[in-house]
Amino acid sequence: MTMSGPTTPDPHVFCDLLLRWYDQNARDLPWRGDAVTPYETLVSEVMLQQTRVETVRPKYAAFLSRFPTVEALATAPIDDVLALWSGLGYYSRARNLHAAANQIVDAGEFPNDVAGLRALKGVGVYIAGAVGSIALGLPVPAVDGNLERVLARLVCSPGGRPQMTAVAEALIAGCPSRAGDINQALMDLGSTVCKPRGPQCPACPLEGICVAGAAPDPTLWPEKKVRRKAPARTAVAGVMFNQAGSLLVARRPASGLFGGLFELPGLLLPKNATTRPGPGILASAWLDRLGVEVDVGVGHGTVTHTLTHMRLTLHVFEIIGEAPPEPQSFYDRLRWAPIDEVDEMGISTLTRKALSLLERGPQQQLFRAPGPR
Ligand code: ADE
Repeated sequence: MTMSGPTTPDPHVFCDLLLRWYDQNARDLPWRGDAVTPYETLVSEVMLQQTRVETVRPKYAAFLSRFPTVEALATAPIDDVLALWSGLGYYSRARNLHAAANQIVDAGEFPNDVAGLRALKGVGVYIAGAVGSIALGLPVPAVDGNLERVLARLVCSPGGRPQMTAVAEALIAGCPSRAGDINQALMDLGSTVCKPRGPQCPACPLEGICVAGAAPDPTLWPEKKVRRKAPARTAVAGVMFNQAGSLLVARRPASGLFGGLFELPGLLLPKNATTRPGPGILASAWLDRLGVEVDVGVGHGTVTHTLTHMRLTLHVFEIIGEAPPEPQSFYDRLRWAPIDEVDEMGISTLTRKALSLLERGPQQQLFRAPGPR
């Protein structure tokens, strides 16, 4: 025990209790087991970093069936990778994973230590720890928000990523050959037993050694972080169909918000925009970005979507006018595709919500082919 740090339990006792529980109770997840390759572990951990297990499950299966090897991913067009990522959010992860696959193929082998993992695009401390411990058997921690909570309660600490990483390191020393299982056992414990609210202490293998578990209210640890509400932003987008019934979509620039994804052409209004956007602003965005003068018709409706850093409200309007031949600014590509095909492209959840307005909206009969005005 040190005077300054939290009191950690005996690492051997901890590992023994935790691993015995894990051997009986591990969740049956497709990225677990001896047949999983390091590449597959990398894919799963990148997907899981910001996304729930149940959302990842089907996406992981579809992704690996399209890109079964690191070579298949490295050589795939980025549009295909983004299409398979659609719905998972945080699309820079997909672009980074694609770049990482190219780094691995160029190097001729998968990294074999934490430094090699960290050199891959998009791989930070957490993913390097998860992949290093699970796929490479390295004795390293992988502390995300979930583990931070479990460990903070175990040692009754206010929490903090570096502090809880030090606790995890000390505990893994009790059974370094099973660091991947220890990390994943703590993930399972955090998701199923030591939940943020309503932890089920009687079902916890660590109950006898958990300091917060002995307190009347274990949820007092870790210290609550004050989260600022994400600011609201407004966007407008236009719907144009051609005579063949295909919908116009435009690809956003590769970096930044929704980078590389297709969307209904439009505009994200500046941060300080307060008034409800009218047709004029959309018409001028189409002129700037697509080079065509159009009429803005009926409103198809409004959809909202919350990201970590903004709450987006998108107003969707019908557009009537000449079809733009190519983007003039901002967008790097235009495509015409039937709605069902757009559904399969790399689009954000916000765009998917906007499309759902078209698919089920009563205005469907209002879609007009652009003609002479
Ligand atoms: N969250 C992040 N990585 C995970 C894993 N390997 N298993 C379950 N949940 C996770």
